[in-house]
Amino acid sequence: MRLAGRTAVVTGAAAGIGRAIARRFAQEGAHVVVADVRGDAGSSRDGGPPTTKLIETEGGLATFVQGDLTDPAQVTELFDRTLEVSGRIDIVVSNAGVFRGSPILDTTVEAWDADMDLNLRSQYLVNRRAVAEMIGQREMDGIRGRIVNMASQLGVTAPPGHLTYSVAKAGVAQMTRQLAVDYARHGIIVNAIAPGRVITGYHAGEADYVADGTVDAATEYSLQRTPFPRLGRPEDIAGAALFLASDDCTFVSGHLLMVDGGWTAY
Ligand SMILES: NC(=O)c1ccc[n+]([C@@H]2O[C@H](COP(=O)([O-])OP(=O)(O)OC[C@H]3O[C@@H](n4cnc5c(N)ncnc54)[C@H](O)[C@@H]3O)[C@@H](O)[C@H]2O)c1
Repeated sequence: MRLAGRTAVVTGAAAGIGRAIARRFAQEGAHVVVADVRGDAGSSRDGGPPTTKLIETEGGLATFVQGDLTDPAQVTELFDRTLEVSGRIDIVVSNAGVFRGSPILDTTVEAWDADMDLNLRSQYLVNRRAVAEMIGQREMDGIRGRIVNMASQLGVTAPPGHLTYSVAKAGVAQMTRQLAVDYARHGIIVNAIAPGRVITGYHAGEADYVADGTVDAATEYSLQRTPFPRLGRPEDIAGAALFLASDDCTFVSGHLLMVDGGWTAY
């Protein structure tokens, strides 16, 4: 019960990595606020009940708040609702995002703006409100709050043809460092995770990979390129998030934790 008595907001938690983080945090005793644009139903890839139901059947505590986190008003609503149900916000995992993008010559200004809104600006909005709330909270052992942002291995390396995604995720990593420096003296710890290829609904090809053992070309490449003999699982990322959100994380801030099976070390 490493998060007993803590309140954690996890965005993009209806599915994939966010769902695994929400579940793990609840198993560790946190009251988890599950935030997602699509409702709590999750994706067909994830299967099983909605995240809040899953948590409740495991004896945990969860609250669902629906919202599109590219919209400042809906970010406000998410945090207002969290404060209403719990009174404080110990942990924020800013995870919502979508893998998309194109080579620069195919990138319209509108597509650039939309992708930045989704993968960078929304995390800025979530971080801004998280810092604003945490800064005024009572400290516990010198810490007022912990923020974990979801960057990507593809913000460190450049995926062919996905300009906006890699630029946005590099921006998330840099925002993390900046906030860590700016708010360390206020007791706010800010870190980011850079997952490698993780099997979730957002890679369409992996439905085939799981169903009949065949793999698409991108998955095959990822498998060969990753030193570990498998792709990532949402639970791999949840374990890393738990460390960064827990009391064990006391002097680590501004860090980008690669959880990529060794891809970037290779
Ligand atoms: N899966 C991977 O291989 C991988 C690798 C590196 C980084 N990531 C990052 O991890 C995060 C989670 O990805 P995933 O693989 O679990 O994807 P996923 O599609 O399985 O889940 C993402 C969730 O975010 C939600 N979401 C999307 N836009 C939103 C918005 N505007 N407001 C609120 N919620 C929104 C979706 O509805 C969905 O439930 C993303 O930031 C992604 O970029 C994933």
